[in-house]
Amino acid sequence: MRPHIICHMGTSIDGRLHPSRFTVPAKGISPDVLRGHYERVHDQFDADGWIVGRVTMCEMAKGTERTIKDAPKVERKAHVGTRNGRKLAIAIDPKGRAHYGKDNVGGDHVVAVLGEGVSDAYLAELREDGASYLFAGSKGDDLPRAMEEIAALFSVKTLLLEGGGGINGAFLKRGLIDEFSTLIRPAVDGVAGSQCIVDYHGPEGDRPGAGQSLRLTHCDVLEGGMVWLRHAVERAPD
Ligand SMILES: NC(=O)c1ccc[n+]([C@@H]2O[C@H](COP(=O)([O-])OP(=O)(O)OC[C@H]3O[C@@H](n4cnc5c(N)ncnc54)[C@H](OP(=O)(O)O)[C@@H]3O)[C@@H](O)[C@H]2O)c1
Repeated sequence: MRPHIICHMGTSIDGRLHPSRFTVPAKGISPDVLRGHYERVHDQFDADGWIVGRVTMCEMAKGTERTIKDAPKVERKAHVGTRNGRKLAIAIDPKGRAHYGKDNVGGDHVVAVLGEGVSDAYLAELREDGASYLFAGSKGDDLPRAMEEIAALFSVKTLLLEGGGGINGAFLKRGLIDEFSTLIRPAVDGVAGSQCIVDYHGPEGDRPGAGQSLRLTHCDVLEGGMVWLRHAVERAPD
């Protein structure tokens, strides 16, 4: 069985993704208070780990590519490093582009979800780092299978999906989001085309949320005017 997946994101009132582009807080509202809500709510969930897309993980992981010569040919099967009870930092990285240089990101154990086409040298680099990895099919896009395997290998019950918009869109399309936790800042971006917190890239006319409905389960106004919404994702009525 796959884990319960909560998409936890911070956004402006127009659903945009990049805080650096948002209007500044109104007079008397502390930017630090607004920023602090995200991690506080994140910690409150006490999830077993978090998931991000490859682009976001590349911004977070500070490793550089190493050339591992004569890497052995290995079967494309999961490799589990030493977790030591830590939470999981999961990257959806079909082509193996993120580099870590260690077995953790911010103290959480790295798990790379890969396509089977990644090189043996990249897999050797991950093993040398002490990271874990598994495969989501030949192209790395079998997300349901990857989530089930993560649940089985690491005994996880709940995971936070934390962007960016591209990977959130892919999870929505696969019906893998059970809940949205959205922190809405009193701010606006306003520019057409700025990335959104759910940004599905698929064929024209495709509707990634088709067959699903959202039910509001929680609404709270936090210090500084941040609004915290929680929505359960349900199967749409017939
Ligand atoms: N406001 C916030 O709270 C927040 C949170 C997180 C991130 N961010 C920001 O969001 C930006 C990144 O967002 P993003 O949407 O460009 O990237 P992303 O969601 O972080 O990563 C997208 C990448 O994931 C990989 N991927 C694997 N399977 C996929 C699938 N089925 N569909 C789509 N992608 C798949 C692809 O990697 P390959 O290209 O290698 O194939 C794709 O390019 C960053 O600038 C980050 O700072 C903001």
